[in-house]
Amino acid sequence: MAHYLQLIISCISLLFLILLVPTNSENTTTTFTKPHPSGFLENLEGCKKGETLAGIRELKKYLNKFGYLNYHSSKAHDNDEFDDFLEAAMKTYQANFNLNVTGTLDSETISKMAMPRCGVPDIVNGTNTMRINKKRHHHHTSRKNLHTVSHYTFFPGSPTPRWPVGKTTLTYWFDETTPSDAKPAFVRAFNRWASVTQYFSFSETQYYDSSDLTIGFASGDHGDGHPFDGPGRVLAHAFKPTDGRLHCDADESFSIGAIPNSNYIDLVSVAMHEIGHLLGLGHSSVENALMYPTTRPGVSTDIQYDDLEGMRALYNF
Ligand SMILES: *[C@@H]1O[C@H](CO)[C@@H](O)[C@H](O)[C@H]1NC(C)=O
Ligand SMILES: [Zn+2]
Ligand SMILES: [Zn+2]
Repeated sequence: MAHYLQLIISCISLLFLILLVPTNSENTTTTFTKPHPSGFLENLEGCKKGETLAGIRELKKYLNKFGYLNYHSSKAHDNDEFDDFLEAAMKTYQANFNLNVTGTLDSETISKMAMPRCGVPDIVNGTNTMRINKKRHHHHTSRKNLHTVSHYTFFPGSPTPRWPVGKTTLTYWFDETTPSDAKPAFVRAFNRWASVTQYFSFSETQYYDSSDLTIGFASGDHGDGHPFDGPGRVLAHAFKPTDGRLHCDADESFSIGAIPNSNYIDLVSVAMHEIGHLLGLGHSSVENALMYPTTRPGVSTDIQYDDLEGMRALYNF
């Protein structure tokens, strides 16, 4: 009888094991699996101008990192006072992410801030990249029932940072920090950009000296002035043309392809977003656009109409 029971338990365990093995061969996870931090800013829910609460300096640090706080002294934001600057920064953030512009830290704003996102600031040198081009490039395309508003943006600068005319073939180089099982994600992402744009083509090179783009993985401070933050929140960042650097946060749990209902971030989608930056796109306030700053675990994002329109406008193809 006891043996019988043991056999049944073994069978059940085996069944569970079979169910747990991913069946989609396209989706393979890399080796980093660290827990995501929770409770970010939650104790500050409802705080607003005039209040002083322990932890407000974390809110300031967050907004400062993405360009929203523009204090003249870096020490000015190292305190827990909810001042006028912070309220203005909150409102800009809320407008960029299509939240209610209240200036108070409501639960929707906290949820948005807790989401995994790209490390490239939304405001660069005082220019709100998520809004400025909204006015300059507010395209209304009417084609039968199609009515689309584009919100793609570029990096600020004159001339607008882009790859030179005629430079349509770009080579990329993986540095020694890139896990070998992460490389196929980038190959897929480059192929996608090539096939959608029909303008750029990409190929891997083994030689750093002749590469246009470089890809690497790093933890925390890695020498470019934009330290990563451990598991969660900032996933990756990339530089404007023609810098070519793309870095992923090595502390994230990445998968190659989305694994629905998991805590894994799809590296293919992250790579496509960051390649968008390498090619000259800034952040978009269109929520389903590839260049929208935030993402979620277990989902994949693709190049959308908004992103392609941005590329067409930047490169005239
Ligand atoms: C905005 O405020 C309204 C009314 O209070 C609320 O119903 C809605 O959920 C809010 N939307 C967001 C995105 O916060
Ligand atoms: Zn980005
Ligand atoms: Zn970096």
